[in-house]
Amino acid sequence: MRVAVVGATGAVGREILRVLEQREFPVSELRLYASARSAGRSLSFRGQEVTVEPLPETPLPADVVLASAGGGVSKQYAPLWAKESVVIDNSSAFRYDPEVPLVVPEVNPEAIRKHKNIIANPNCTTAILVMALFPLHRAFRARRVIVSTYQSASGAGASGMEELLEGTRSFLEGRPVEHRVFAHPLPFNVIPHIDTFQENGYTREEMKVLWETQKIIGDPTIRVSCTAVRVPTLRVHAEAVTVEFERPVSPEAAREVLRQAPGVDLVDDPAQRRYPLPITATGKFNVEVGRIRRSLAFDNGLDFFVAGDQLLKGAALNAVQIAELLASVPG
Ligand code: A2P
Repeated sequence: MRVAVVGATGAVGREILRVLEQREFPVSELRLYASARSAGRSLSFRGQEVTVEPLPETPLPADVVLASAGGGVSKQYAPLWAKESVVIDNSSAFRYDPEVPLVVPEVNPEAIRKHKNIIANPNCTTAILVMALFPLHRAFRARRVIVSTYQSASGAGASGMEELLEGTRSFLEGRPVEHRVFAHPLPFNVIPHIDTFQENGYTREEMKVLWETQKIIGDPTIRVSCTAVRVPTLRVHAEAVTVEFERPVSPEAAREVLRQAPGVDLVDDPAQRRYPLPITATGKFNVEVGRIRRSLAFDNGLDFFVAGDQLLKGAALNAVQIAELLASVPG
């Protein structure tokens, strides 16, 4: 397939190149695009240097466009790209459009069949959540979900990581900590504010977890309430999750389900200090799930903890997996 990566110099774009390499995706031709600032730079792919081009005002010479340059760029250009290519869009620009499939390949691969040349890649927190939630939902039918997130700086892109590193240096050297990407200084802090506040008091990031979980799982009756918090880690979103199920459930039955679940690593041996951690989930394709226990608040309830590399399963890996589904469908 001829592949174009838009936003190739960004935090997700670079991961897309690595994932295409690691999974030996059948790339016949690769084109890289970023803003005019990066035009002329080159990035390495399979041992060769590929020049980054400025985004043209025309369709792209590609069978599949992997877009990760923000919602503004996608909104403006994806309909144009879709004339010649299938666009896998990492932004939220088209996720809630009923005509656009929102896909996590382990959960709803069949949804891609209805695509009209744009397929949306989910919000990173949601993609990681549904990896654990969906297999449990299938077995025990989830009714209510309460999630608190611990989201890393790279969720805000390469500039978020830089701001955390630079701010930490400043803090340790006794200089004032400056912030531009985050609403407050992030080093040695946690910030319960990701994306914009809505009229109902939730942030848009928190609402995305509800809207997207319902759409991906295909159940508009599942209720999800989220508190999204930025923490001073570089990579991986972790999530504390409480689920109330319709059917009786036990931690052991849940572990058995998760042991079989694709893309999930059960890491649940507290006595050996083994549980999901950003440090162990970094760079991993699979999402770690552990700390599984019976909820003390709900009958038929479970509490558990999830950690997933949001640049991978929450973004680049999921996008490449969608491209693999396309590549495997004839025509
Ligand atoms: P650039 O590196 O030239 O700014 P991140 O999410 O890490 O901030 O990355 C965003 C990606 O989107 C980068 O590759 C960035 O390129 C690219 N980008 C931002 N604005 C545009 C634009 N108007 N046209 C094309 N690419 C863009």
